[in-house]
Amino acid sequence: MLEQTRYEKLFSTPVFRFQVPDPVAFNEALLEEGNRMRAGSGGASKSNRGGWHSEGNLFDRDTDCVNKLRDLATEAIFTANEKIGAQAPREALALKIFAWMNANPKGAFNAPHTHPGAHWSGVYYVAQPEIETGNSGMIEFIDPRTDLPNWRILQAPSFRMKKKLRPEPGEMVLFPSYLVHWVYPNESSEERWSIAFNATFRKARK
Ligand SMILES: [Fe+2]
Repeated sequence: MLEQTRYEKLFSTPVFRFQVPDPVAFNEALLEEGNRMRAGSGGASKSNRGGWHSEGNLFDRDTDCVNKLRDLATEAIFTANEKIGAQAPREALALKIFAWMNANPKGAFNAPHTHPGAHWSGVYYVAQPEIETGNSGMIEFIDPRTDLPNWRILQAPSFRMKKKLRPEPGEMVLFPSYLVHWVYPNESSEERWSIAFNATFRKARK
């Protein structure tokens, strides 16, 4: 008999989900903030098709709800660092987070993309249509490994080519910025609101 001496999962891709407790009032405040911003600007257009996208860094705003979200994002990022076994001490890292708000009306979606240059990317879900069926509004991650179609025959969960999620309002998803992701078109007549962010580390100055 052959003895198995070692089993390692090399090069795995972590995806985290966090839940903000009692998010209703918090989400209402973020939605108000978003509506104020949208009223004041036309917004930018990046990977989102047919939706509104805030301009500049949302985290440069100094309001209670934005400050709270920045703190939550920071907590999620350092929790993730710890979970992946990061050896760099927190005080050796200068963290920069750039955030923006998305409003996706019916038909709007985000084409497949990555966030080059950042370390962690995240999405916080502010408002989702009540009833969503099929793939409407789902975020999907695409496996970064090559030649995976060849492995489909084994039906092994960790070798699947894609994974989709439909987070609830109050949830935050965090993943490495190199991971290709996209959002299925919103088929509902209600708008979907989310806040995306990129987290980038630099060496902290002594
Ligand atoms: Fe993205």
